[in-house]
Amino acid sequence: MRFFLDSANVAEIREAWEGGLIAGVTTNPSLVAGEGKDFHGLLKVIAGIVDGPISAEVLATTAESMIVEARVLARISPNIVVKLPVTAEGLKAARTLATENPQVATNVTLVFTPMQALLAARAGADYVSPFVGRLDDIGQDGLKLVDDICRIFALHDLSCRVIAASIRHPVHALKAALLGAHFATVPFAVLRQLLKHPLTDAGVERFLADWNKSGLPR
Ligand code: E4P
Repeated sequence: MRFFLDSANVAEIREAWEGGLIAGVTTNPSLVAGEGKDFHGLLKVIAGIVDGPISAEVLATTAESMIVEARVLARISPNIVVKLPVTAEGLKAARTLATENPQVATNVTLVFTPMQALLAARAGADYVSPFVGRLDDIGQDGLKLVDDICRIFALHDLSCRVIAASIRHPVHALKAALLGAHFATVPFAVLRQLLKHPLTDAGVERFLADWNKSGLPR
């Protein structure tokens, strides 16, 4: 499993990318709205930092207008992945892009059932994003969804990649990795939690203190 940063914040993206922690970025309209910046301009800045997939979601609701928007987004940078909702119109757009513009990668998002994921993969999506945390929020098992999708894709030899999304804490990420998700997209705070351990910090301090006490040169 590789990590994407689930963020539209340039400072966070730069820190995570330069720190070697992520393979790419996912954004969504809520995250972009939270930054209050021009969407396409922001994507250009992110593409100047990140040399990996950058998911950017369409706002259109009909297949025809999603395809127009997808082509515009894809022209911003070759590593833009167009995010489409798992609606009838979204899958129609995914199918058209897969056949007419196969160089435009797609990430079908807002996936809440294994059959939505299978339909998206069959429509030609390159990635599907099952939302773990939002299912947990309504008393369902979000990680079971990731498990089901990974097993179905393996059983039927589908090349579509699974991005465990709506990750709320380190255990979500750990379990997604154990279940075989190809990617987990995580908020910056969770990425930090994944790296930090108090015994690591204490160990670094103790090694340095012992060395300094010894009088050995550095
Ligand atoms: C990523 O693709 C999703 O948009 C994101 O993970 C949703 O997370 P949330 O449920 O915390 O908003």
